[in-house]
Amino acid sequence: ELGPYTHYMQKEIFEQPSAVANTLEMVFNAQSISPNLFGSEAEKVFFQTKSILILACGTSYHAGLVARYWLETVAGLPCNVEIASEYRYRNPIADPHTLVVGISQSGETADTLAALNYAKKLGHRYSLAICNVPESALIRQTDLRFLTRAGPEIGVASTKAFTTQLASLLLLTVTLAKMRHKLSAQDEQQMIMTLRHLPMALQHALQVEPQVRIWAESFAQKRHALFLGRGVHYPIAMEGALKLKEISYIHAEAYAAGELKHGPLALVDDEMPVVAIAPNDQLLGKLKSNLQEVHARGGELYVFADADSQIAQSENEHVIRLSEHAGLLSPILHTIPLQLLAYHVALVKGTDVDKPRNLAKAVTVE
Ligand code: M6R
Repeated sequence: ELGPYTHYMQKEIFEQPSAVANTLEMVFNAQSISPNLFGSEAEKVFFQTKSILILACGTSYHAGLVARYWLETVAGLPCNVEIASEYRYRNPIADPHTLVVGISQSGETADTLAALNYAKKLGHRYSLAICNVPESALIRQTDLRFLTRAGPEIGVASTKAFTTQLASLLLLTVTLAKMRHKLSAQDEQQMIMTLRHLPMALQHALQVEPQVRIWAESFAQKRHALFLGRGVHYPIAMEGALKLKEISYIHAEAYAAGELKHGPLALVDDEMPVVAIAPNDQLLGKLKSNLQEVHARGGELYVFADADSQIAQSENEHVIRLSEHAGLLSPILHTIPLQLLAYHVALVKGTDVDKPRNLAKAVTVE
């Protein structure tokens, strides 16, 4: 079943171009985007939607955090993203015009299911599931649904489920933007082209593997790591840190790079590797000055940049470049090297990549 691969996680990382292509297949074959992709009632519900509330755990929560940027920027919709296990024990104010979106690979995560139930009880009217398992509890309990077609994900560390969730959430964003008249017909065609480009762009991103493998050797000797990102790439830094902790047992924390000087900079010395997600977007200039702060304290930087990012390699600043800056797709593409880093560090350390200690694939208990 593993074919040429040694681990499920490795197989699943490399399946991402085809998993995303399967997930977006309906869009690739269509000339325009239709709300029906999210269920027969979606058009009616989307017309009434004035804001979004996303509920999820772990990696799926990180997908929600990325989606917030897209929903605000492209669809002009206010969006809240909550950790399901926290939401269910608060007293949030419900709004019947808020669409509740549950994101889950398994569709069986107890906290996510309970949070969605709770949201309904509080007075939220409609819910949508983004889920990888058609026969799951989550799919049964929501009004609308969109299936990620990642195929079975066996590795406990979520990889292809995450990127297919992101692809689905970008499609949701574009659909809502279209219905809210935020997109011209030309913009819509451009968005479809952008989505069509995604599988190929992922294929290119996977080509950084040999370079990442070299970094993994020195990384595996470390006990702690910081991950930095800004804007839509901050949740990608969180996801990279989660992957590293989960399978290599290295303590990793993610920070929004602008927060560095508000505390974590005190941790930086030559023992602390700092990973930065540095795409060539409008925040790159700000991020570079944050990286300078690390550099000045003797920290060792591992930077994932884009081909055209003006970031120079030096003795303590290692740079790996993705082949292009992909605009809206950038957070999806920048996920790939972080998954590869966690995987290769775990290989060097000899941990159980597919079944990390203490963790289960689906967390069906509170
Ligand atoms: O099945 P779900 O997406 O609801 O699972 C949520 C989390 O348990 C899951 O994403 C977890 O964080 C992953 N093991 C991370 O790789």
